[in-house]
Amino acid sequence: MENNKKIILSGIQPTGVFTLGNYLGAVRSWKQMQEDYNCYYFIADLHSMTIHIDPQKRRQQTREAFALLLACGIDPEKSLVFVQSHNKCHAEMGWIMDCCSQFGELSRMTQFKDKSSKHPDNINAGLFTYPALMAGDILLYQADYVPVGADQTQHLEFTRDVATRFNHTYGEVFKLPEGYFPKAGARVMSLQDPTSKMSKSDTNPKATISILDDEKTILKKFKSAVTDSEACVRFDPEAKPGVSNLMTIYSAITGKTMEEITAEFAGRGYGDFKTAVGECVAEALRPVREKYEELMQERTYLEEQMRRGAEIADKISRRTLTKTKKKIGLLLEK
Ligand code: TYM
Repeated sequence: MENNKKIILSGIQPTGVFTLGNYLGAVRSWKQMQEDYNCYYFIADLHSMTIHIDPQKRRQQTREAFALLLACGIDPEKSLVFVQSHNKCHAEMGWIMDCCSQFGELSRMTQFKDKSSKHPDNINAGLFTYPALMAGDILLYQADYVPVGADQTQHLEFTRDVATRFNHTYGEVFKLPEGYFPKAGARVMSLQDPTSKMSKSDTNPKATISILDDEKTILKKFKSAVTDSEACVRFDPEAKPGVSNLMTIYSAITGKTMEEITAEFAGRGYGDFKTAVGECVAEALRPVREKYEELMQERTYLEEQMRRGAEIADKISRRTLTKTKKKIGLLLEK
């Protein structure tokens, strides 16, 4: 990938089947970027260790997540796709970034506050230093843009802060990455509690659309989505979070503006609107589901792609890691 194209990097945790939020907020735009950028995408299995998962399940979910990325249209001939832990540079850079991060700034991260309140029995140090590992992921590859959903904004700001501090203290090593947020779909909310984001780990299955749900399930979940009693399709996230969330999803898939959607459903009940949203989502996800079924039958192919991805990822990132170690004054092994 030696050319003048800008570098895109992003990751996703293997903590369950991707949701419609992951898809619209991130992975769909990853696919679109493959033609114009050098794209590096990975399964963030080291990040998933901040939550307890049964080991057998973790292995399985990592394989599935890799296959899901390919099913979503990430083409290993065009993009680099790999599993984070297969490239040892991430763990090494993660420690370096830990030592460049301040307790105060890590304490302000909303994701840490959220996750530690959800899992009070497992507030591990990794959960706290998670943003430092993520900063390392990004800086290792000298990424120009990081396409993510809006929930990752704070982590990106943190990455820029740490990179600036490092460059200032030890000399220029890292490029400062910019976030890249899709115009529509950057924040998809839960169908049952539209004030919190749609999340893979939600315990209420009606709250999330998994990208492998079949058409019937998708329609059913949208039918039972929480709305309001006004019976008017208009965009107002404060007063009408449920309807506004459905409009965001519909707009992200059809490309229609909020005004167009309001006009389309004027004088019609929420029933029609929910069915229309469900149908367009089911139609958009059908090819992903079909491709995924095919790929899961091809274990050798998936393993070969993982091996190849890890090898290339190591080659690219090792350059930055070595330069970083030299700047810090770590004695390099001969
Ligand atoms: P993760 O696995 O939580 O989510 C993967 C991507 O999906 C986006 N996303 C959403 N977008 C819109 N609406 C939602 N409801 C929604 N839920 C999730 C996330 O913003 C993300 O882009 N920390 C990252 C993984 C990571 C990473 C990185 C990303 C590790 N290292 C380096 C970029 C660069 C995470 O937990 O994503």
